[in-house]
Amino acid sequence: MVGAGITTAAAIVFVALATAMALGLLSNPYAGLIVYIALPVVFVIGLLCIPVGMRLQRRALAQGRGEAEWPVVDLRQSRTRRVAFTITVLTAINMVIVLVAGYGTLHYMESPQFCGQVCHEPMHPQYTAWQNARHSKVTCVQCHIGEGSEAFVHYKTAGVRQLVHVITNNYPRPIPGIADMRPALETCGNCHWPDRPVGDVLRVSRTFGDDEANTETVTAMTLRVGTPGQRGSIHWHADPSVRVEYVFTDGERQVIPWVKVTRADGTVQEYTADGATEAEIAGGTTKRMDCLDCHNVVAHRIATSAEEAVDLAMSVGQVPQALPYVRREGVKLLQETYATTEDALAAINTGLRGFYKTQSGEVDAAALERAVTGLQAVYQRNVFPIMKVGFGVYPDNIGHMSSQGCFRCHDGGHTAKDGTAIVSDCESCHKMLDAVP
Ligand code: HEC
Ligand code: HEC
Ligand code: HEC
Ligand code: HEC
Ligand code: HEC
Repeated sequence: MVGAGITTAAAIVFVALATAMALGLLSNPYAGLIVYIALPVVFVIGLLCIPVGMRLQRRALAQGRGEAEWPVVDLRQSRTRRVAFTITVLTAINMVIVLVAGYGTLHYMESPQFCGQVCHEPMHPQYTAWQNARHSKVTCVQCHIGEGSEAFVHYKTAGVRQLVHVITNNYPRPIPGIADMRPALETCGNCHWPDRPVGDVLRVSRTFGDDEANTETVTAMTLRVGTPGQRGSIHWHADPSVRVEYVFTDGERQVIPWVKVTRADGTVQEYTADGATEAEIAGGTTKRMDCLDCHNVVAHRIATSAEEAVDLAMSVGQVPQALPYVRREGVKLLQETYATTEDALAAINTGLRGFYKTQSGEVDAAALERAVTGLQAVYQRNVFPIMKVGFGVYPDNIGHMSSQGCFRCHDGGHTAKDGTAIVSDCESCHKMLDAVP
């Protein structure tokens, strides 16, 4: 009786909440945890109570307690037929609910809310960065988990292991990069196709000086992304008919002592870094280059330096350029180490206001207010003290200004036996523009 009560109650609540969620009335991230995980568990517990109760009852009867007589099931009686029919229908409905809830459970566990908010602490940096990325409509699992039953089993067992690590508080901080991501063409390739002609990509960036006026410098260039298969283009590496393999000797794939190219016409060339030894190369890991070797932070980029993050915030007006010395002071405050986010936000607030108190002349109060909020937001987007994640922890392999990036191979020091080096002259990848178009 208790089991039937629990099950029925859970079912009613489940139907009501699931309907509310479907109608968009419940958008709290933890609602899914309750509706699709907690309620089904209660539901199943209720169901399990029923046979247990029946068993206890039977034992009580056997020991002479309770009524000894078993009811006679006589389907000739219309009341018995009604009861049997009702039990059958209810069981069927219960089965459907279990199936739908089970599907919902799995589906819910694939949502970015589950990855990023339920597993709050370890995934917080990537989840935060992902929300601000242009891939914020692409769910975590679309890149991190493959399709098909094999991938399903693989990632669900890995997920259980990771859950244990989270519960026992036993995971690395920061979470390291992933050298064995799934083949890019099975993830990125679902939406992007590798031989799409891109042509030149215009890139305009604004940086600011440490002087009183926060003087702006605008750099404009066209990147020769081009077309795979076309010589002289950046996407040449991604051409499926070309094979670029390399050896790396560190966790984040920043040290590359050896590169081998098998070109579309079948010619092969090997390049070795200056000073790399045979033993070093033999001890490294070999990987075939794909999209992820350049676009490694495409979904959740964390700024590689405080300067870069402040420049970006200033270029979109989140930190006002009109406030004297704000670039210099902002960078200084963001480069400090703080124990917690709360400490950091408080220190940015008092630090910046304190600086302007020491300055002579009138300070624009509204601009100062905006600068404080803007810098605090920069901190919250990029620094996560609990996870030891901050500026520069995750290198960005596109470019070469703040991380090695392209220069891991294109540094002029990777040469073949015949003396040719992997190209490193500036114009081979981009063309600087004198004026901003
Ligand atoms: C567009 C594809 C894509 C999406 C969407 C995506 N990731 Fe990633 N993620 C990657 C790639 C690629 C790497 C590997 C970076 C490397 O090490 O080269 C990665 C690495 C990671 C890492 C390891 C640490 C690091 O930053 O390198 C974590 C943790 C992570 N992702 C979590 C998430 C979470 C949580 C979400 C959803 C909120 C998510 N990712 C969404 C592509 C993606
Ligand atoms: C589910 C589809 C989907 C998947 C999977 C996906 N992307 Fe995208 N990607 C998009 C869409 C849509 C855009 C355009 C967003 C926009 O224009 O704002 C985009 C934009 C981009 C851009 C240009 C914008 C930027 O942030 O630099 C790059 C580069 C890119 N994707 C690379 C990748 C790589 C590398 C992977 C694999 C790790 C990947 N994408 C996986 C859908 C996807
Ligand atoms: C793992 C090593 C490696 C990395 C990292 C790398 N490249 Fe290359 N790149 C090569 C090799 C090898 C060649 C071809 C040399 C040859 O043809 O013999 C090449 C060729 C090129 C070419 C000329 C293509 C042609 O047809 O001659 C361009 C342009 C280029 N790379 C741009 C880049 C950019 C931009 C980045 C960073 C986003 C980058 N590369 C990162 C190894 C690398
Ligand atoms: C050698 C490094 C390298 C490799 C490998 C590479 N890309 Fe790119 N890709 C770039 C660079 C550099 C840009 C220029 C824009 C930027 O900075 O994001 C770019 C731009 C893009 C864009 C944006 C184009 C636009 O219209 O703005 C997309 C989408 C993209 N790449 C997808 C891919 C996919 C998918 C793969 C794998 C099949 C891939 N890339 C492999 C370096 C690379
Ligand atoms: C192997 C290709 C390659 C070579 C060689 C190369 N660059 Fe770059 N460079 C890039 C890419 C890719 C970016 C980054 C684009 C991005 O961030 O999207 C970049 C970015 C830059 C920027 C940053 C612009 C900004 O403010 O964001 C500067 C400046 C620059 N390069 C100068 C140079 C100079 C000078 C040389 C010659 C010594 C050079 N590069 C050689 C590929 C290359």
